Amino acid sequence: MALTIDNLHMTFQTPDGKLPALGPVSVSLAEGSFTCLLGPSGCGKSTLVRVCAGLQKPTTGRVLLGDTVITAPSPQMGVMFQDANLMPWRTVRDNMALPLELAGVTTAQRVQHTDTLLPMLGLGDFAQAYPSELSGGMRQRVALGRVLIQSPAVLLLDEPFGALDALTREHISLDILRVWEAQRQTVLMVTHDIQEAVLLADRILVMSRRPGRIVADIISDLPRPRTHEIVYTPEFNALARQIRAAIEIA
Ligand SMILES: Nc1ncnc2c1ncn2[C@@H]1O[C@H](COP(=O)(O)OP(=O)(O)OP(=O)(O)O)[C@@H](O)[C@H]1O
Ligand SMILES: [Mg+2]
Repeated sequence: MALTIDNLHMTFQTPDGKLPALGPVSVSLAEGSFTCLLGPSGCGKSTLVRVCAGLQKPTTGRVLLGDTVITAPSPQMGVMFQDANLMPWRTVRDNMALPLELAGVTTAQRVQHTDTLLPMLGLGDFAQAYPSELSGGMRQRVALGRVLIQSPAVLLLDEPFGALDALTREHISLDILRVWEAQRQTVLMVTHDIQEAVLLADRILVMSRRPGRIVADIISDLPRPRTHEIVYTPEFNALARQIRAAIEIA
């Protein structure tokens, strides 16, 4: 489903007065597109994600999923933050299947769903492991699986791999790409990493300093499916340079 952000503003009330954090932002993300959002720290990226997810009410403006205005979290929107937030007493399988369990899905069906997702996310041998037995990258994979298991129409990812090392990020990014190429959710992903944005996205939005507005809207026509080899091509580097320049004047 398409995600439409319509004239969004967010101003926070703080002890020191009003803090205009975001906007105006208007942008429409086409169904099945992969958009990365970059911008300086504190410019309102996470605020934008929270409003899109229905977790926060904007000061003015609205967000639409298809034709429906978002006013509360919806199972059609999968949201993932930097912290995996797994339950330490549940296995990988049971963490991943939690949304299905809450929705009353039977154990047999939960096993079936997780059996499909676990290998796709490189966790085939870890269904019975506990979070404490996993690396940071593996925990983020479980958190991603927990989002994907509900088959959301939209994925909102707020720096989901920010805490991981570069190579682990690249591996997970390529895994995400494989899943996305098969399922084609509409994705909005916040990242600080220009290379990651170019590897993943077909559209890159750059935000200004606070209050964040979109100051560059860059379309990538790098071919798909993509492998890590693409990072060595002149087209990849040209895009990365263009994004970098946009961020520096943002
Ligand atoms: N609940 C809140 N109350 C008051 N101010 C807030 C609140 N949430 C965010 N802010 C302020 O809004 C601004 C934007 O914050 P936000 O977290 O959206 O930035 P960001 O672009 O995600 O930054 P980063 O890249 O560091 O994650 C910041 O100045 C922050 O202090
Ligand atoms: Mg943030």
